[in-house]
Amino acid sequence: MNQPSSTHLVLIGLMGSGKTTIGRRVAAQTGRHFYDTDAMVEADCGLKVRQIFAQWGEPEFRRLEHIALITALAVKEPGVIAAAGGVVLSDQNREALQTARDEGRARIVWLKAQTATLLSRVQNGVHRPLLDANPAVAMQAMHDQRTQWYQDLATAVVSTDELSASRVVAAVVSVINEGSSHV
Ligand code: S3P
Repeated sequence: MNQPSSTHLVLIGLMGSGKTTIGRRVAAQTGRHFYDTDAMVEADCGLKVRQIFAQWGEPEFRRLEHIALITALAVKEPGVIAAAGGVVLSDQNREALQTARDEGRARIVWLKAQTATLLSRVQNGVHRPLLDANPAVAMQAMHDQRTQWYQDLATAVVSTDELSASRVVAAVVSVINEGSSHV
């Protein structure tokens, strides 16, 4: 098992980029706790993401998502955090991530992929109501709106289009290990 550093590993990227799948495997491989902001929100209020959007609206979901992100970042023991695709929409979330990164409390990996790749992976995404109407249009709009934010926040970028999940996991683990000598 790799030695944990004192720095969280945060995965960012659009829906379908593999944050949850890769994050869970990286956590298992490195002996870290895994945090997934969607799962934290669901556990917090006892409703699925889709139900929260339908019953309470997106702004309430974003409020709960903010609390989940801040809660995960505040944990002292270094973990692996899958930050849902929309966390970058909030100024406060971007500031929190940037501060954690700049203070050495987080390494942020952007799992980057082309929109066609992402669309092929999210067809059965039940927790993604934003893709209900027109997935291709919605995904392109999210890509256009958010790409710069992911880019600006990232400590490292892993382009996943041509990589197997195991190779993405290895690339992310190497980011953790590179960081361990500096902290
Ligand atoms: C969203 C991404 C989803 C989920 C919700 C909204 C977004 O999480 O939080 O459907 O706005 O990008 P994943 O990125 O884990 O799919």
